[in-house]
Amino acid sequence: MMRKIFVAIAFAALAIGWTGARVSAQEQDNMLPAEHKRLFREGAKLWPIYCNTCHNARPGSEKAPYEWDLIIMHMRTLGNLPQEDTNAILEYLKAR
Ligand code: HEC
Repeated sequence: MMRKIFVAIAFAALAIGWTGARVSAQEQDNMLPAEHKRLFREGAKLWPIYCNTCHNARPGSEKAPYEWDLIIMHMRTLGNLPQEDTNAILEYLKAR
């Protein structure tokens, strides 16, 4: 019983994370250059704070942009990071 509930919650969390990231990727395609710049600057400030919490902050150049799309979902779930801040960090990482 408890195990079924746990599995249901895990799937719900995954679904929320997944749709969250997909919406943000869609939004990113429609964003104006000024919005990309704003997110980049915000991400540059937040990356050393959030991403240094549990391990050394990994530089954006370490992974390809499509890899960051996936890794950021996992890290957002682990760290319970706010969506807006995560979008900014993703923008920063993909540009490095
Ligand atoms: C709550 C703790 C926590 C936070 C915050 C966190 N991470 Fe992680 N990260 C982990 C753990 C634990 C692992 C290794 C185990 C795993 O993959 O679950 C990991 C692994 C990674 C890896 C290695 C993946 C691979 O296979 O090469 C990358 C890259 C990474 N994190 C990037 C980030 C970035 C970028 C951020 C900031 C947005 C971040 N992490 C924030 C806990 C965290």
